[in-house]
Amino acid sequence: MRISGAKNSALKLMAACVLAEGTHVLSNVPDIADVQLMAGVLEALGMTVRRGDGGVTEIVRDVPLQPEAPYELVEQMRASTAVLGPLLAAVGEARVAMPGGDDFGARPIDMHLRGLEALGAAFELDHGVIHGRTDGLRGAEIVLDYPSVGATENLLMAAVLAEGHTVITNAAREPEIADLAAFLNRMGARVVGAGSARIDIDGVAGLRAVSHAVVPDRLEVATFLAALGVAGGELRLTHSRPDHLELLIDRMGAMGIRVSPDGDGLWAMRRARPRPVDVATLPYPGLATDVLPLLVAVLCFADGTSFATENVFAGRFGYVGELARMGAHIKVEDHHLVIDGVEQLSGAPVRAPDIRAGAALVVAALGAEGETVVLNGEHIDRGYESFDRKLRAVGADVERLADDTDGR
Ligand code: UD1
Repeated sequence: MRISGAKNSALKLMAACVLAEGTHVLSNVPDIADVQLMAGVLEALGMTVRRGDGGVTEIVRDVPLQPEAPYELVEQMRASTAVLGPLLAAVGEARVAMPGGDDFGARPIDMHLRGLEALGAAFELDHGVIHGRTDGLRGAEIVLDYPSVGATENLLMAAVLAEGHTVITNAAREPEIADLAAFLNRMGARVVGAGSARIDIDGVAGLRAVSHAVVPDRLEVATFLAALGVAGGELRLTHSRPDHLELLIDRMGAMGIRVSPDGDGLWAMRRARPRPVDVATLPYPGLATDVLPLLVAVLCFADGTSFATENVFAGRFGYVGELARMGAHIKVEDHHLVIDGVEQLSGAPVRAPDIRAGAALVVAALGAEGETVVLNGEHIDRGYESFDRKLRAVGADVERLADDTDGR
């Protein structure tokens, strides 16, 4: 099965297109709802987005930009805030509604704003809209309190056009950040160290439009490995990067799921019932917060008791009650879960609270007796291309219901 391009990279690469005039060509862009939303944001700014075959997307910036990302789009997708840095760098002004997006805990953007202020922007909150201005960004030394993915990306995209040298310390190290830096460097930027905790940027006077292929989606890989963990059997995933999933593969190995590199992807096998393990999320290269619900879905079936700890986002356990409705034995203690594995779950109507938790409920349903209906499936479509079709292609009995509105 072919893995798609990474949502979390594609959205930022699209935002980075604000930085240069001309026609950008991104390939391996996943066909998902969040990409459509980001296309809507770019179009609202005055850009043109054309979707071709095979994930090829042309993004054209040819007219003066309207530096405003509208509320209707931003409140649906927090990643819309990725245009803040590029707009300030490219046109000296940005108006972006305070973000909404996934429903897990408060997700402030204070680090984005403080870092952009250090680069020479000034902000005010005007009726729910963050209004930023600058008379020219200047390089600065920025130390992040926490390796925030979004803050690192916004600062990187602003600094490439700032005058002078910028250093971002305690930067996030996710593969999507290295992908963004590779794209920016291809556009003519001078970025060194992306993917490590220190990023050095020498500002340049201008950038040019180029072509770039989006890095494979490590979270989609994790999802299909979790599906294998529940259902058993063998799986081959192509166009994927197992080197971006080292800790997950290690934990999967401890659970008895064998994963080996294979060609341009990986091969995986699970024979016996999963073994219990302890897992804890951390910024990359730690175990991604986005994969925790998927691992928890597998551990519901483990032969013993597992412990799972969420360290990145508070309040990201909305799916636990849904798994309990299917017969999972999970206790929530602060930001820890204690999961007593059972041999089988029982199918039930459940509700997807966000993208990954929604996928985790589908994964859990593969090991549930009877039918499971996952409501609010539109969350899953935000982040997964053809999820139902791909699951069927690897042998799952899954179908998309035409009307997915509330039935409970
Ligand atoms: C990105 C990913 C998301 C993933 C997350 C962590 C995208 C579109 N989304 O989200 O899928 O789960 O990284 O790997 O790429 N924080 C602050 N202030 C800030 C910024 C962040 O307090 O200014 C906090 C957040 O509330 C959270 C933690 O820092 O507790 C991590 O957030 P961050 O790394 O910024 O995640 P996102 O970029 O929002």
